[in-house]
Amino acid sequence: MTNPRRHLVRTVAVCTLALSALLIAGCHTNGPTSGGGSTGGGTASGGGGTPPPLTKKAHYVVGFSQVVSNNPWRIAETNSMKAEAAKRGDKLIFTDATDSEAKQIADVTSMVAQHVDLIFLAPKSEKPLAQAVLKAKAANIPVILLDRRVDADMAKPGADYVTFIGSDFVDQGKRVGQWLVKATGGKAKIIEMEGTAGASPAIDRKKGFDGAIAGQPGMQIIASQPADFARDKGRQVTETLLQAHPDVSVVYAHNDEMALGAISALEAAGKTPGKDVLVVSIDGEKYGLQAIADGKLNYDVQSSPFFGPVAFGALDSYAGGQKVPADIVVHDKAYDAANARQEIASSY
Ligand code: AHR
Repeated sequence: MTNPRRHLVRTVAVCTLALSALLIAGCHTNGPTSGGGSTGGGTASGGGGTPPPLTKKAHYVVGFSQVVSNNPWRIAETNSMKAEAAKRGDKLIFTDATDSEAKQIADVTSMVAQHVDLIFLAPKSEKPLAQAVLKAKAANIPVILLDRRVDADMAKPGADYVTFIGSDFVDQGKRVGQWLVKATGGKAKIIEMEGTAGASPAIDRKKGFDGAIAGQPGMQIIASQPADFARDKGRQVTETLLQAHPDVSVVYAHNDEMALGAISALEAAGKTPGKDVLVVSIDGEKYGLQAIADGKLNYDVQSSPFFGPVAFGALDSYAGGQKVPADIVVHDKAYDAANARQEIASSY
């Protein structure tokens, strides 16, 4: 059994000299920001200046605002953050927004009131949670975004918050689309199961996929609907869409949970997922890899949830006054029938 830290070292590549403590190679970065010693401050309008400074300490009190805890991906992310905080002797104030934007804004507000040193925020959606970032900045508390972005017109990395750490979601969608073009020879009737409306992985996974199949006249998205990154919603949405589109040949789900829901709906409708309807997805959770091994899921691009070491490494760099890239991009593997079974044990 591979532990999450070792898994992270294998699967995450982060570039920059300033983050040398974090290993890493081959990442995309935007403009750097420097920490500790910047003047901080800022207003709720956002878009300028530098993030609030962070004083170097032996131990920190940090907040981690998680969006929801109803699936293995989120639980793996939370466990990675808690394990890293515990290892360092830092105090982690954890909140679960139960998939509510209002609660997540309140959670961040409460962390501000508790004067935490820094807030790690995994935002539900781009626009509402940009306000929470600006609130923290106005209170002089630095924020590091994990796994999802906020609207760049409202709050900018390196100015309103320290950095974004996460996957390249456009690339994930593109990789799925490219695989599908090859696997189908450019002929497909596709149902797309979108993630939470307004969330950056839903926006970008759609964008990347659309770009990859553009120029393939034989590939058509016959229906595209949000199913909130949730298994049960994925099943319900697929059930409904199958009635209007029984001729579907591909389900593209923006995450494994929705793909697993779609697989149940396809089976209930008498179809054979993985054969007469190809199913492709993103995340690489254990159940997703098992579905590949069982022949029901065809291709799965990883989205690594193991943020703990990288997140706290970025905190250290920032507090130490080193340059921190505006974006720290996680590099993800991909799974198919050739490698899924042997990867199950190291997945989450
Ligand atoms: O933001 C990352 C995405 O959010 C994961 O792919 C998904 O499973 C989660 O809910």
